[in-house]
Amino acid sequence: MCGIVGYLGFQDPKKIIVDGLKKLEYRGYDSAGIAVMNDGKIKTVRAEGKIKFLEDKLGQEHFNGHLGIGHTRWATHGAPSERNAHPHRVGDISLVHNGIIENYLEIKKGLLARGAIIKSDTDSELVAHLVNEEILRTNNLFEAVQKTLSKLVGAFSIVVIWEKSPDELVAFKDGPPLIVGLGEKENFIVSDVQAALQYTKNFVYLEDREIVHIKNKEVRYFSADGKPIEKKVNHLDWTTELTEKMGFKHYMLKEIYEQPRAVAAAIGPHLNPETHEVEIKNLGFKKTSKEVFSGIDQILFVACGTSYYAAMVGKYLIEQNARIPVEVDIASEFRYRKPIIKKNTLVITISQSGETADTLAAIRLAKEHGAITLSITNVQKSSIDREADGHLYMSSGVEVGVASTKAFTSTLALLNVLALEIAKARSVLSKEDEIEGVKNLLAVPSQLEAVLSFDKYFSEAAQKLKDFKGFLYLGRGVNYPIALEGALKLKELAYLHAEGYAAGEMKHGPLALIDSRMAIVVVAPTDDLIEKTVSNLQEAKARGGKIISIGTGENEALKSMSEYYLSLPSASWMTNPLIATVPLQLMAYHLADNLGLDVDQPRNLAKSVTVE
Ligand code: M6R
Repeated sequence: MCGIVGYLGFQDPKKIIVDGLKKLEYRGYDSAGIAVMNDGKIKTVRAEGKIKFLEDKLGQEHFNGHLGIGHTRWATHGAPSERNAHPHRVGDISLVHNGIIENYLEIKKGLLARGAIIKSDTDSELVAHLVNEEILRTNNLFEAVQKTLSKLVGAFSIVVIWEKSPDELVAFKDGPPLIVGLGEKENFIVSDVQAALQYTKNFVYLEDREIVHIKNKEVRYFSADGKPIEKKVNHLDWTTELTEKMGFKHYMLKEIYEQPRAVAAAIGPHLNPETHEVEIKNLGFKKTSKEVFSGIDQILFVACGTSYYAAMVGKYLIEQNARIPVEVDIASEFRYRKPIIKKNTLVITISQSGETADTLAAIRLAKEHGAITLSITNVQKSSIDREADGHLYMSSGVEVGVASTKAFTSTLALLNVLALEIAKARSVLSKEDEIEGVKNLLAVPSQLEAVLSFDKYFSEAAQKLKDFKGFLYLGRGVNYPIALEGALKLKELAYLHAEGYAAGEMKHGPLALIDSRMAIVVVAPTDDLIEKTVSNLQEAKARGGKIISIGTGENEALKSMSEYYLSLPSASWMTNPLIATVPLQLMAYHLADNLGLDVDQPRNLAKSVTVE
């Protein structure tokens, strides 16, 4: 959370930084600000709210220097306000910060005792004070920053500039990502490569407790104790078009519509369309994937939010195909409950961003316990990806909308592949089941296209939903996590109260909620459990609940009891979760859009949750 851009080069820093911040706005949008050199002085402009308010404030303002920093904030310490917006200035120091300083109380106490005047409620300003104290002693920006680093506890990435040195910038990280973009006669420091992608394709990823020192055109890297280190330059061939809206009203809508392509890209490298064989190549383990998958005794998924629901689907897919026990844990719980990780456990983390702080901590913990780790991420070279032994990529392309959509369905597709691969490695997958599984998966992109073509019905259904006081999303089996995901989408986009339940749990409590103002959205494909689901719905309908159902083809029984019936193409039990997700995404999208809400950047959220 929070996005950082630092720039030193020959172009207009204001433009580069503001454009970069717009690309990072998904990381937080509580306030934004820039500090840029102008006539030998650092000029700071900050505004509460989204970057457009900062732009309004900046107007035609011109800066003639070549150095600057910028920040878009997701508030942790201190309310969203201009006073708490970054950059923070103390003395001649200006600083931007992403993360949390855990020992801020102790630091604050010390600063106040030394007579510091603290202007904001943030932990970030305290760091600026510490750097300022050091620079008054050392008169050297690099030394001042390096000395400050040793005084901080927490998770942070920080970029600092100094008015007395207009061609110098120092940054360090311990937690949230910080990436150096290397251009021609210009250099960038960003929280995400997207912010500098239009200027360079060459990036250096800082590891924790590493410092980068950029002076004029020279870029040098150091460990926290000040020793020079060598860093690898990574060349990315991403294009900037990936981050445009391409005519869609919102990024989220574009990303929903990209799902057929995204899913095809996720499964393509692992399936043979001629022989219908599954083979995941280049997982990156030291051993072959057959050795890894046949040698494990259990699998443990760890993830957060939507990625956690994908992991829940993974449990159904892998247990039923590969007959190996699978557990699923929320990363923020896992890391603090002293988990028992038995020998021969494969820990699989799922994270679109690859930066979620809790998931990152979980994979590190798993490694400490000697587990083999596999990460499923969308962002290659992200922190979680770099931490893992083995790697699978969602290959969805950049996901800008804060609500995850295409990354979720791409992950479900990959989990289908993984379930088949693990079953095959453990010699429990028949040739027929492999062929059928691969054929079913290859059919998904066109099924998704078909479902998307029904969007007008999902939009109509969304109209029906808007007057209800609450929502229960129901599903059974592998579709139960899809109900949870549907409820999450409605909550985060439309700010309506929705809960996901396993349909069989209704009579154990939630039935008491049912009346005519309660909508029940049910994922009920024609599968082994359909009759049980219909019985559960009868119980809800008898108590006045209004049912919106998502079924297979023309299911008359379901249709007759539903206020609104949405028909999906027939799919296998393993791939149905992918196609059933689309109506839930689109209903939440249309409902939120009709309510005039900010679909791409829902209130209080950020896409990349780099603090715990
Ligand atoms: O980047 P990650 O997949 O690790 O993110 C996990 C969650 O923060 C994320 O899925 C969140 O729940 C989304 N807002 C859901 O749409």
